[in-house]
Amino acid sequence: MTDQTELRKEILYVHKHRFATKSFNPTKKIAEEDWMTIMEAARLSPSSFGYEPWKFLLVKNQQIKDDLQDIAWGARNSLYGASHFLIVLARKNLTGNSPHVKHMVEDVFGVPYSETSPQTIFFNNFQKNDFGLTDERSLFDWASKQTYIPLANMLTTAAYLGIDSVPIEGFNKESVENYLEKKKIINLDEFGVSYMAGFGYRDQEIPEKKRQSLSDIYDVIK
Ligand SMILES: Cc1cc2nc3c(=O)[nH]c(=O)nc-3n(C[C@H](O)[C@H](O)[C@H](O)COP(=O)(O)O)c2cc1C
Repeated sequence: MTDQTELRKEILYVHKHRFATKSFNPTKKIAEEDWMTIMEAARLSPSSFGYEPWKFLLVKNQQIKDDLQDIAWGARNSLYGASHFLIVLARKNLTGNSPHVKHMVEDVFGVPYSETSPQTIFFNNFQKNDFGLTDERSLFDWASKQTYIPLANMLTTAAYLGIDSVPIEGFNKESVENYLEKKKIINLDEFGVSYMAGFGYRDQEIPEKKRQSLSDIYDVIK
């Protein structure tokens, strides 16, 4: 077999063995080097215009995990047994005139920023006219969409490393946001909660994958 054939097999093996873990072994912890590899996969993820409208909170505090049990029903297994528990935030009201965009352009891309530069005007035009991002909810949802790209990369990277995971939307967004604000963990003017995720080692069999067939979801337009 060629290297390419082996590689294809390996990639599909990883995808078939990634699954939404319902039961974690609370005694098995992820090695720091593995965890930092997962975070690096998140950090290197692409985002629209490269503006990275996200933040990743690793929750180690047991009191916070206990408190979240009541308002994050889909996270209970992870809060109990996962080695690492993440809350991922998306930026609110991100437009070409936001301080975050100025920071990205100047400090990360290393080029001058101006509210009236062609790049800023182009971005504002894209948001308003091409994507209709004109209110707080649509701007949040657009930023939140970007955060699911690092989610996929983190899940796949974890699976590559033999680490199990679960993405989590099973929580009351408003309750979780208000709780995190009360704890002074997030500023709700700046961020909202996008999703949570648990990572660790399974305490269960890997269930059979149930998926639509490729012909149901894939059309070639000639
Ligand atoms: C965005 C998202 C949110 C999810 N939320 C939860 C959740 O709150 N709790 C949970 O146990 N599983 C959650 N899941 C897992 C899905 O139910 C699971 O991925 C899907 O049924 C496919 O199964 P598989 O991942 O095991 O292949 C979520 C998955 C995604 C992608």
